[in-house]
Amino acid sequence: MKNIESQNIPKLDGNFDKDLLQKAAKDFGTPLYVYDLDRIQERYAQMKAAFGGRKTMICYALKANSNLSVIKKLASLESGADCVSLGEIQRAILAGIPKYKIIYSGVGKQAFEIQEALRIGILFINVESKEEMLLVESCAQELGVPARISIRVNPDIDPQTHPYISTGLKENKFGVSIEEAKGMYLLAHHSKYLEPIGIHFHIGSQLTKLKPIAESARKIAQLAHSLLALKIEIKFFDIGGGIGITYSDETTINPYDYAQAILEELRGLDLTIICEPGRFIVGNSGVFLTKVLYQKMHQNKRFVIVDGAMNDLIRPSFYDAYHQIVPLNTESQELSSADVVGPICESGDYLGKNISLPSLQNGEVLAVLSAGAYGFSMASNYNSRPRCAEVAVENGAIRLVRKRECIEDLIVLEKDYL
Ligand code: LLP
Repeated sequence: MKNIESQNIPKLDGNFDKDLLQKAAKDFGTPLYVYDLDRIQERYAQMKAAFGGRKTMICYALKANSNLSVIKKLASLESGADCVSLGEIQRAILAGIPKYKIIYSGVGKQAFEIQEALRIGILFINVESKEEMLLVESCAQELGVPARISIRVNPDIDPQTHPYISTGLKENKFGVSIEEAKGMYLLAHHSKYLEPIGIHFHIGSQLTKLKPIAESARKIAQLAHSLLALKIEIKFFDIGGGIGITYSDETTINPYDYAQAILEELRGLDLTIICEPGRFIVGNSGVFLTKVLYQKMHQNKRFVIVDGAMNDLIRPSFYDAYHQIVPLNTESQELSSADVVGPICESGDYLGKNISLPSLQNGEVLAVLSAGAYGFSMASNYNSRPRCAEVAVENGAIRLVRKRECIEDLIVLEKDYL
């Protein structure tokens, strides 16, 4: 047992204060996601400002958090959208992102999805293989409109992040090699139905080192130079997303250094930079609230059983990711190590392992920090658990932005088939 004062007690991220979170939990119940829209605005502004006067478009990666109110907030700040499905494109449009600021990425797009994207008239489709490019061409031909495309190039650089979220190595499924890309650009250049206007790379997520990003940008910039020399008039240099955030004590990349490193590699290239941050914008802007149900000791091991589970926040179970967990009522001074576990029938169902916590009361609310990215967007109905509610805080006011699912929502698509 240690004295709480001597510990590095995590601060609540964003502008959240404990009273506000207590109120959110009381008014909307738990488990619950809470997003700080003011913080989201700040993070967006930081990224935008980092690129200064340079022609830049921030295309927020919806996969990190696709709540409509979050996207709407970003739309109001003039963000574009990086989407990976028709569902995300629909969300972007519904939330007010103009179609000419939407890009469509992903390795497995099908004809009906490509046709719909072309019909909508989004900015461009990021193609990830020659076969996909040929499918885009035939879809465009059918519709009688040329398709604007960008090619995702795999720079074969180790991003030095978790292997599950590393995407820029040749053994990863993403993009095509520089050599293959050259051939594809030439093909596209001579096609009546393809308009190659961009070049794209994205090497991974939760990146905390600048060097691999700069090296990738250098390789891709060289390719861009050679394309322009061939009169292939690309206009967009899409650097993907991936900037990491602090979950624990990670040193992260400063957006300004990030922008400088990219701009350095782009000297002599008059291209609009597209940047696709997800986690950087929303990660530290959200917390997940969960209530203590029971507590028990197994031998010497302390378990805190809460009402939130891996279906709500899968990152700890899936990536062994660490999220700080803070009790909202820290009157107790004694700390001991505990596993914070959910009600799901799996040993891997935990929100935190060996977390230092004071003694807790059942019913007390814990805040799981930095849960704004890849939290709700990766939530499932495993164990037939309704997905939790989401609320947003803006100018000190809290409002519901997604209501809690109910059992009826879970069975509605099946019950007529009994
Ligand atoms: N652009 C592309 C092409 C991507 O694949 C991704 C993320 C992003 C942008 C946004 O990356 P961010 O800025 O958020 O790092 N579920 C994992 C993260 C998967 C990221 C997938 N791609 C996690 O919870 O850590």
